[in-house]
Amino acid sequence: MTDTTFDSREFRSALGRFATGVTVVTTVNDDGNPLGLTVSSFNSVSLDPPLVLWSLDRSSSALAVFEKATHFAVNVLGADQVAISNRFASREEDKFAGLDSAAGAGGAPLVPGCVACFQCRTVHRYDGGDHVIFVGEVESFERRDGDALLFHDGNYCRAEPHPEAW
Ligand SMILES: Cc1cc2nc3c(=O)[nH]c(=O)nc-3n(C[C@H](O)[C@H](O)[C@H](O)COP(=O)(O)O)c2cc1C
Repeated sequence: MTDTTFDSREFRSALGRFATGVTVVTTVNDDGNPLGLTVSSFNSVSLDPPLVLWSLDRSSSALAVFEKATHFAVNVLGADQVAISNRFASREEDKFAGLDSAAGAGGAPLVPGCVACFQCRTVHRYDGGDHVIFVGEVESFERRDGDALLFHDGNYCRAEPHPEAW
């Protein structure tokens, strides 16, 4: 049974203690129009086969398109891409305006300047309560050097080496 006795703001706040990276997940609709949104729920699942996951709010205007799409791309943002994160977290009409994005697998746009990119074929979709969990098989990936953008306690951050790191 669901325990609804706790406060949902406190719950969100506790979840925010878990630091993540920030990604922009993209795809295309049937007309070839790109769409995407800022996502921190991305994570690795399996190395062999190479699987990743992320979850999409059921209230997203992009839900129907992602549910139908054969492919998506996960663009991992660098520390210098806060403006891109904010743009793709907005409800702006054309989030890709002025962005020089190439088409990846299945037409999913690749955001320039990212620290990593995973081109994925959708292989599973699971019910995740008020979200839908997408699992993708990685068909190709790229990485480049540079600091990643982090999200922690509801704010953007950047990583610095821990004094106790080896
Ligand atoms: C740092 C950050 C992380 C986010 N992570 C997610 C996520 O994992 N899943 C999700 O559905 N929305 C997430 N969002 C919210 C979406 O980016 C935002 O609601 C988006 O604008 C929805 O746009 P749409 O309705 O046009 O799809 C996140 C927002 C921010 C700023």
